[in-house]
Amino acid sequence: MLSPERYTVTAALIYANGPIHIGHLAGCYLPADIYVRYLRACGKDVAFISGTDEHGVPITLKARKEGKTPQEVVDHFYGIIKQSFEDFGISFDIYSRTSSPHHHQVASDFFLKLYNDGVFTEEVSEQYYDAEASQFLADRYIMGTCPNCSNENAYGDQCERCGSTLSPKELINPRSTLSGSVPELRTTRNWSLPLDKLQPALETYIASHPEWKSNVSGQCRSWLQQGLQPRAMTRDLDWGVKVPVEGADGKVLYVWFDAPIGYITFTQEWAQQQGKPWEPYWMDDKTQIVHFIGKDNIVFHCLIFPAMLMTHGGYALADNVPAMEFMNLEGDKISTSRDWAVWLHEYLEEFPGQQDVLRYALCSAMPETKDNDFTWADFQARNNNELVAILGNFVNRVLVLTQKYFDGKVPAANTLSAEDQAVLQAMSGFPHKIGEAIDQYRFREALGELMNLARLGNKYLADAEPWKLIKTDEAAVASILHVALQLCASLSSLMEPFMPFTAKKLADMLAHKPLAWAEAGRADQLVAGHQLGQAGLLFSKVEDSVVQQQTEKLQARKAAREAAQQEAPVNPLKETIQYDDFGKMDLRVGTVLEAEKVAKTKKLLKLLVDTGVDQRVIVSGIAEYYTPESLVGQQVLVLANLAPRALKGIDSHGMLLMAEDSDGSLRLMQPQNGARNGSVVA
Ligand code: 2FM
Ligand code: ZN
Repeated sequence: MLSPERYTVTAALIYANGPIHIGHLAGCYLPADIYVRYLRACGKDVAFISGTDEHGVPITLKARKEGKTPQEVVDHFYGIIKQSFEDFGISFDIYSRTSSPHHHQVASDFFLKLYNDGVFTEEVSEQYYDAEASQFLADRYIMGTCPNCSNENAYGDQCERCGSTLSPKELINPRSTLSGSVPELRTTRNWSLPLDKLQPALETYIASHPEWKSNVSGQCRSWLQQGLQPRAMTRDLDWGVKVPVEGADGKVLYVWFDAPIGYITFTQEWAQQQGKPWEPYWMDDKTQIVHFIGKDNIVFHCLIFPAMLMTHGGYALADNVPAMEFMNLEGDKISTSRDWAVWLHEYLEEFPGQQDVLRYALCSAMPETKDNDFTWADFQARNNNELVAILGNFVNRVLVLTQKYFDGKVPAANTLSAEDQAVLQAMSGFPHKIGEAIDQYRFREALGELMNLARLGNKYLADAEPWKLIKTDEAAVASILHVALQLCASLSSLMEPFMPFTAKKLADMLAHKPLAWAEAGRADQLVAGHQLGQAGLLFSKVEDSVVQQQTEKLQARKAAREAAQQEAPVNPLKETIQYDDFGKMDLRVGTVLEAEKVAKTKKLLKLLVDTGVDQRVIVSGIAEYYTPESLVGQQVLVLANLAPRALKGIDSHGMLLMAEDSDGSLRLMQPQNGARNGSVVA
């Protein structure tokens, strides 16, 4: 699209069942905020829309666990989430919620339009029902034995051990997670969106966006290749948006039907507050619509939501969905349930005034093309070696020298040397370079360029040595500081999307208002004679003790969790078997040669294992506990004569032995001190 007239930028509506952690920030909210701040600096008309997703099983399960009502849960977390985003400088134009009556109305009307247009297919089916709890058991409300790997604690939608996608009726020995009772089958009616019929239109849509990130279009193409199936858009639950048709008592809209409509609802709320029409932000092809999300939300934003919008009619479809991969923490998957996370509200309390250090560290390691790792050591190094040593140091030297030699006034540049001119010339290219990278969602590169501007300044000072030159040529020093101050002004404008708090600090020190993006490379941003403000330090060192404290805090949590697990009852013994039963298993020592994630799954890794006998592919449900890189070269124990089975279309030849705790967490079993591949385990 050439020069859009306006932008609608959305950031995923996170479930209001827990606080925000650094994975959410790096994967969605920080890139969205950088993008939007940049657009605003370019003078664009932008609506930055987000809020909480307050329906769905994740909410009701949390409420049950805490003995609260779903409303109490979402009220609590909405407050925490909204506040922490605000304090972190995520500059939403509106942060609203899907439990509001207005959203219920909008989502309900949307459904009704599709219903009246005959879009849905009505499907009568038998579903499990818990008579004690008087409730149908969808998704995580039901557990049982996985038909693929015999895990006795598989959920109705997925087995967390082997990663296979399940439906409740596939479970062996199903039980209700509400009452523990054995559920009965009852007939129920639901409405499905015929994604199969919409497949050609969706294929055309995806094909019309060759510019999308390859991780995004790759996932879309793989869903399309497998062939889309009709998907139920209603559920037999009582928490959510009521299905607005007769005979649908006890049914609500599928959470993934109502949630994305939330983007539209919230835009309407915002537009009303602004006193302008909302329609141009969603119904005009000259609007650039961009959804920022994590990779687990790709199918919903790239296929299902567009399918809903197409069948409704009148809406424009997203122009881009720059989904990020995942951020890990200290080599381990971030996990809310395992409390393995850096929580934003805790960071804000423990590091007051240091939002930008985290913003910088997260942007530097942003998981743009592959999963990435956040470590406290990297946080410290980024701060000390880059923010303090490069950016802070440059600005400080310029301001201190200007104060010392010219009473804090911008000196006049009467003649410019070739070096001075070269620096100004180089500086003039930075707004375009940084802006182009942001435009193309390459945030790490953009931040790298910003730091290159500071590096340019440092080198300029180091080469010119104004502190020596002052003794012999004050006019030349005046020119150098004049130029260096233009660099400072440029930095203060160009850093704003990444580090808005520091940008403000620096602008105050320069007594200067940030300029429009395109002006931020000009040679005359600060005029001669301009009185600068009070100089101060932009950043301060992060001491080793801070890193130690934070890593110890994480380790202490891990230890507490492990201790709690020790106390938790272990699974009861299974029935006695004979030696022959054991002897039938061919257990071998092997080594992982290659490891990669299985697309579209959270839990599965595809491994190539050398068993001593052969090299074979084994698909294992351990992605939540081990990164692919950490497994290569590791020895493992393999059940080698298990009949092959297909997982996500990949034939898996055997199984890795693992210790599974009562909470379902997995650890690989390995031979102590190593053993030859092919050694028999007996
Ligand atoms: O993954 C999540 O947290 C979902 N609640 C995201 C929803 S995004 C949008 F569709 F609302
Ligand atoms: Zn399984």
